[in-house]
Amino acid sequence: MRILFLTSAHNSLSQRLWIELGERGHEIRVCIAATGETMIAAASREAPDLVVAPMLKIAIPKEVGSRCPCLIVHPGVKGDRGPSSLDWAIANGEQTWGVTILQAAEEFDAGAIWASHEFALETAPSAKSSLYRGPVTEAALRGVLEAIARVESGDFQSGAWRPEKLAEVAPHARGRLRAPMRQADRAIDWTRDTTAAIVRKIRAADSAPGVLGVLLGKTCFLYGAHVEERLQGPPGQVLARRDGAICIGAVDGAVWISHLKAKDENYLSEEACSLVRAGIGCERCDAELCAVAGIKLPATQVLGPLLRGAPEAPLPITAPADHRTYREIVYEEEDEIGYLSFDFYNGAMSTSQCNRLRDAFLYARTRPTRIIVLLGGADFWSNGIHLNVIEASDDSAAESWRNINAIDDLIVEILNTMSHLVVAGLRGNAGAGGAMLALAADYIFARSGVVLNPHYRSMGNLYGSEYWTYALPRRVGQEKAQELTLSCKPIGARAAREIGLLDDIFGSDVDAFEAELRERSKRLAKDPEFRAKLRTKHERRLDEEAIKPLAAYRAEELEQMRVNFFGPDPAYHAARRRFVFKGNPPS
Ligand code: COA
Repeated sequence: MRILFLTSAHNSLSQRLWIELGERGHEIRVCIAATGETMIAAASREAPDLVVAPMLKIAIPKEVGSRCPCLIVHPGVKGDRGPSSLDWAIANGEQTWGVTILQAAEEFDAGAIWASHEFALETAPSAKSSLYRGPVTEAALRGVLEAIARVESGDFQSGAWRPEKLAEVAPHARGRLRAPMRQADRAIDWTRDTTAAIVRKIRAADSAPGVLGVLLGKTCFLYGAHVEERLQGPPGQVLARRDGAICIGAVDGAVWISHLKAKDENYLSEEACSLVRAGIGCERCDAELCAVAGIKLPATQVLGPLLRGAPEAPLPITAPADHRTYREIVYEEEDEIGYLSFDFYNGAMSTSQCNRLRDAFLYARTRPTRIIVLLGGADFWSNGIHLNVIEASDDSAAESWRNINAIDDLIVEILNTMSHLVVAGLRGNAGAGGAMLALAADYIFARSGVVLNPHYRSMGNLYGSEYWTYALPRRVGQEKAQELTLSCKPIGARAAREIGLLDDIFGSDVDAFEAELRERSKRLAKDPEFRAKLRTKHERRLDEEAIKPLAAYRAEELEQMRVNFFGPDPAYHAARRRFVFKGNPPS
């Protein structure tokens, strides 16, 4: 079928649907739908059999709806309506939630119901964005496939099947129309709220719009909340700092906040936001303040000198895994295997994060284990260098240079590891240099639903480093390497396995993936051929080094990156600014 995606962003969910439907032989066109006119033009140009809106913040015009069925992916259970579905589900502690596929209608989210799927929510709430990339994406895929089958079978057109009307299900459905969640609903009262309540409130607003609050006299949006189980202190007071995060006292303990976005006078007021005026609201909007302006950064960077006196609370990477606190890097051992996870917010890796991860990797390599499993984060494996921290730096070109060298310094250690076999376990998506980071491992396994973006060019023609010119062709051949890096398209786990980018894929969710990964790693550690495998790896590395040293690959890549960062063409800097400021960089 010819399917047109009308979407406000070709985001992780939209990319996953694009991959899955494409693999099923559908012809997909993607239209970034900024206005009604854009949508009308796209629909008349593409003449689709079906329109799917994976994430659309504005209404589909009637002209489009009258041409063919238009289906909206709504992240709520049957009967649920409004722009803050996931926010309310998390805030209200729902035990299950769902995704509903709705037909476009004049009233937002009130169209007929084509499909609906539910999933369990964990008692300890996940961040909204994490839910969105995980169970919401999986349920959306099931629903869209089901709806497409209705169209393909002709049952919808013939009237043999018809979608349920909202009025029919509303009396029995637990979903209902909910107002946009406002900052007043999200506000934290440090003198009353428990740690669990604070974490829940912040996660319901993470990654957008964040919870507005005042810390040390500065008005900021708060993100990245984690319960602290040992430190204690007066409610609302900053007790400690660690790796860019701050720990704040609460009535029954303390909470870590990893990221802040300083409130900027450029925020759009409610009146100024056209979406709010239209009564719609949007993902990045809480109907009071539009959180587009400003940069989300490590909390200590935003508060800077205001934090004077807040003590460092370092934590070894080997601290017990069940110690509930804020920790980006965790190392644990089991059955001759070292598991190194690095859960960096949004998968972005700044210079200091790369350096800390390199130290952790070097530590793992000194251990009497056989395998090192690199686990990345549960949400993202990695998205490469930290564009926000770079943007906020006084000298963005110099910081870009430091950051790319720091990630290269990490990768070269992985590539040159001869004492262990290294496994990369991709629980979440990976992009740009983060996808290339995985290629340094000897084995790469991924969760079945993972989406990879192994390319850089869309970031202002960035050339990229991370030894990709060595590691990518080594896995997929020169031709495919060119195709992947030049086409700038996402690739799904199945296709990535087919071309040898991944060794295998398994697990329908993160838990299932991790369990199987551990089993496979154990088998590898006990493999009677383990030594032979290590020897073969060593010999291959020596042979390849003799043909062309790793240092030469790095020098060539960095020569290109030097031009990107310091050269006369500002394309990379302009693209980074657009990315960091969500398309609206301050002038
Ligand atoms: N640095 C800083 N932040 C990053 C980042 C990076 N390298 N990559 C992603 N993010 C942030 C986004 O700004 C967004 O932040 P928010 O949700 O807090 O507002 C969040 O991570 C999720 O990214 P998003 O683009 O919404 O996710 P996606 O799954 O739709 O797309 C990518 C994933 C990887 C395709 C896209 O994020 C991307 O192009 N990232 C830049 C990669 C890059 O060029 N890295 C530098 C070169 S190595």
